[in-house]
Amino acid sequence: MIKFDIVTIFPNIVEEYINTGILRIAKKKDLVEINVHDLRRWTDDRHKTVDDTPYGGGPGMIMKVEPIYRAIKELKKKNTIVAITTPKGEKLVQKKVLSFSNKKDLHMIILCGRYEGFDQRIHDNLVNYEFSVGEYVLSGGELPALILVDSITRLLPGVLGNEQSLETESFTNDLYDFPQYTKPEEFNGWKVPEVLLSGNHKEIEKFRKNSQKMV
Ligand SMILES: C[S@@+](CC[C@H](N)C(=O)[O-])C[C@H]1O[C@@H](n2cnc3c(N)ncnc32)[C@H](O)[C@@H]1O
Repeated sequence: MIKFDIVTIFPNIVEEYINTGILRIAKKKDLVEINVHDLRRWTDDRHKTVDDTPYGGGPGMIMKVEPIYRAIKELKKKNTIVAITTPKGEKLVQKKVLSFSNKKDLHMIILCGRYEGFDQRIHDNLVNYEFSVGEYVLSGGELPALILVDSITRLLPGVLGNEQSLETESFTNDLYDFPQYTKPEEFNGWKVPEVLLSGNHKEIEKFRKNSQKMV
């Protein structure tokens, strides 16, 4: 089974998301295991400190190496991918997500940053996958971690009610999904294309194929 260990200083944000919708169902069906860990568990001072000021000066705080080192030491197994969320990382794309979802015994630790990011020694010595969700800066790594977990989990066999939807989904075969419509047939003068109401499955398929754009 695919397993994720998400390490964060805000476990509540992550818990809320993984216990809702598709991820909740996937966990319930035992198709994925998602554990959320409070990084402060691996601190050893009274204040449970996870950050400190930067050497060389400058604004903001930096995530300390020791609690993260201890967390990884405890959670890591033989083939674990230790992933770090960072704007400087490899941009996450569907092909990569698909390749992760095909690894049946995938175990991933995902480190969520906050403040000005991580002590560079974490990047250099403790992780083997650095990923970014796009060219913008978020306040923390919780959303990127959830994006990774969600995008992988929904591809696992048995997770989605209708697996057929994966076949035409955006980015499959380097195409976007085709445009979809639902009732009513007309709203505000905006009509559903005639062909979709025709019942002619060959023509509908042709229309859909022609309206899928290349990624
Ligand atoms: C405020 S950001 C730190 C930004 C860092 N000082 C920089 O300029 O690259 C805090 C944390 O949010 C996460 N984060 C922010 N933007 C991200 C992105 N585009 N992709 C992945 N993680 C991101 C990372 O974990 C990062 O350590």
